Amino acid sequence: MSQTRRAKISIIGAGNVGATCAHWAASKELGDIVVLDIPDKEGVAKGKMLDLACCGPIERFDSNITGTSDYKDIAGSDVVVVTAGLPRKPGMSRDDLIQTNVKIVKSVSENIREYAPDSVVIIVSNPLDAMVYTAWKATGFPTNRILGQAGALDVARFRTFIAWEIGCSVEDVTALLLGGHGDDMVPLPRCTSVHGVPVTDLLSKETIDACVERAKKGGGEVVQLMGTSAWYAPASGTIQMVEAIVKDKKRVIPSAAYLDGEFGRKGLFVGVPAMLGAGGVEKIVEFKLTDEEQALFNASADHVEELVGVVKKMFPELA
Ligand code: NAI
Ligand code: 2OP
Repeated sequence: MSQTRRAKISIIGAGNVGATCAHWAASKELGDIVVLDIPDKEGVAKGKMLDLACCGPIERFDSNITGTSDYKDIAGSDVVVVTAGLPRKPGMSRDDLIQTNVKIVKSVSENIREYAPDSVVIIVSNPLDAMVYTAWKATGFPTNRILGQAGALDVARFRTFIAWEIGCSVEDVTALLLGGHGDDMVPLPRCTSVHGVPVTDLLSKETIDACVERAKKGGGEVVQLMGTSAWYAPASGTIQMVEAIVKDKKRVIPSAAYLDGEFGRKGLFVGVPAMLGAGGVEKIVEFKLTDEEQALFNASADHVEELVGVVKKMFPELA
């Protein structure tokens, strides 16, 4: 009997986003799952994963699900998702997290380099684009195997708000979004449609602009409501990317990916449409932006570069 090897997905950080990533990955039966946290939180990681494993008979998934604080357990991972780090509180921007999270992401990345050297790494920790850069430098992995989750979430928010305005199913709205994971991200109404019918033909400019603004501030809206940042949709977006990679689907998902001249930028990770498959980022799907879109994208990319400058200042060895 031929046997197919199960994919192995490791998630660093057993907090709200990490545990919810494990939940979505298990429910989609994407593979075996390891969730790792710091030694002080080992009980939390083990307890949450024991609890999740016991959903298997009801939800009908056969995955080995492990909580741990031992990096040896991530050996052989196909994908490692990094959710370790502080989330923001009301009044904070994602950028305010940089001082703490760069240290965490650097040390986590060094362990990934040692224990899962062949993995594709998806960063979720904020400020997202600068943390992707940090992980790239600290792992030394090729750029196709380092990417960040932001656009999958941000575009899902945008699609949701557009669908609510039209009154149609959220499934029927497709959309695209570029730029960093900040309030200067760039949703593209021109590339947003209901089964190909341009949204610009269906909604007024004012309504579309309001949806753009709500998507840009979507993370902050949740923080204001509940005192910490979101986890259901961030984890859902992350697992959409994991699924594309472990199933080699070649899905085109907005992701923070390395640009080498595409969209006019070189040497930075920022959100663009990326084709995701077994090789990680297999291709950047480049297309011509209007002058206005390019200007907005450049402003967002400049902001990412500023944050990367802070990382380089803190850790000159990452420059
Ligand atoms: P959380 O506080 O619930 O969980 C974070 C976990 O990371 C904690 O369990 C903590 O013990 C763990 N951790 C800290 N240092 C670690 C280390 N060195 N090694 C392993 N684990 C470590 O936070 P939450 O809500 O899960 O958010 C996690 C991160 O994801 C934050 O930085 C947040 O801003 C970011 N985020 C990013 C999103 C995106 O779309 N890119 C969306 C939502 C959150
Ligand atoms: C979000 O957009 C905080 O980055 C997180 O919800």
